[in-house]
Amino acid sequence: MSVDTSDIIGRSKVFQAVLNMLARVAPTEATVLVTGEPGTGKKLLVRALHRNSKRRDKPLVAVNCGAVPGDFPESELFGHEKGASAHALHSRAGCLEMAEGGTLFLDEIGGLGMSLQMKILRLLQEKEFERLGGSESIRADVRVIAATSRNLEEEVKSGEFREDLFYRLNVIPIELPPLRRRGDDVLLLAEHFLQKYRRGSKAMKISPEAREMLLKYPWPGNVRELENYMERMSIVCGHEEIASGDLPEKVLLAGGTGPESRSACSDGFEWPGLKDMQGQGMKLKEFLENIEDRLLLEALENSGWVKNQAAEVLGIKRTTLIEKLKKKNLEPGSSGQRE
Ligand SMILES: Nc1ncnc2c1ncn2[C@@H]1O[C@H](COP(=O)(O)OP(=O)(O)O)[C@@H](O)[C@H]1O
Ligand SMILES: [Mg+2]
Repeated sequence: MSVDTSDIIGRSKVFQAVLNMLARVAPTEATVLVTGEPGTGKKLLVRALHRNSKRRDKPLVAVNCGAVPGDFPESELFGHEKGASAHALHSRAGCLEMAEGGTLFLDEIGGLGMSLQMKILRLLQEKEFERLGGSESIRADVRVIAATSRNLEEEVKSGEFREDLFYRLNVIPIELPPLRRRGDDVLLLAEHFLQKYRRGSKAMKISPEAREMLLKYPWPGNVRELENYMERMSIVCGHEEIASGDLPEKVLLAGGTGPESRSACSDGFEWPGLKDMQGQGMKLKEFLENIEDRLLLEALENSGWVKNQAAEVLGIKRTTLIEKLKKKNLEPGSSGQRE
């Protein structure tokens, strides 16, 4: 069977290794754990795993385990029987039953609470579960694929993630490399997105200087950040070719053309010192608050103000981000919700 990865762009060696792994693993029934920084294409890879599996004609059901604070409502995943809680007026199937015969994608599995971790472990080991409030065990024929941008091994060490579940999920690990390690793939991807978001019949081109800049920038938000920029350029730039001056300031600074380029260059990183704090005429609390504000805003900016994504980049819960924004009065006037 030939493997369809036509929507996944990347020719670099590190990325080809990922695609080779994908081709080998997709047709099997193995549990896969996809890791990588936010925006590296984990979800895209999981879709390809399903599409190239024997289960392709059955559903792929995605559950975002990090989206809800505390324990993800168990009934969402396992379903419930009538009367299981005050709200359960009817029996309802959960995501697990909807995925029957297909693939269950547990996204951001690092956010899963302890009691659900145990239930998922049982599901993986015994291929069985119960609806909430139900006494009958239901057989589940699903392939489980999980993804996370957190370091689960660290979370196992700190006691936040069950070690047995980690090993059970980590049968086949696939790690997506950060975009900054993929060399010229940056340019391939940039062109791919300019094609995707082109407004007329022709996609915009990128000038040689702008290409240099794109290659030098470290892409903390990875492919998602690049996609957001390219979409913006396709809308905002009136001309046919993207010049270096059209690029976002952050990209220019990292490329070494801006006046502040040295301090913004990632190689010359330095922690702020006391003199920086005093230089700003601030006390510790205010200085730290200011640093936090900047990081929050940058993460939001990089993810097109989609809070789920910004929270992922920052490594905090979406609700924590929203609380912080409220407290700091940083709520934007508008926020286009996107997946
Ligand atoms: N190699 C790639 N080729 C084409 N598009 C990609 C690639 N990697 C990521 N993308 C796109 O970038 C965006 C973010 O990817 P996503 O899979 O949601 O990342 P993650 O789940 O790791 O946060 C999506 O729009 C996705 O289609
Ligand atoms: Mg994701």
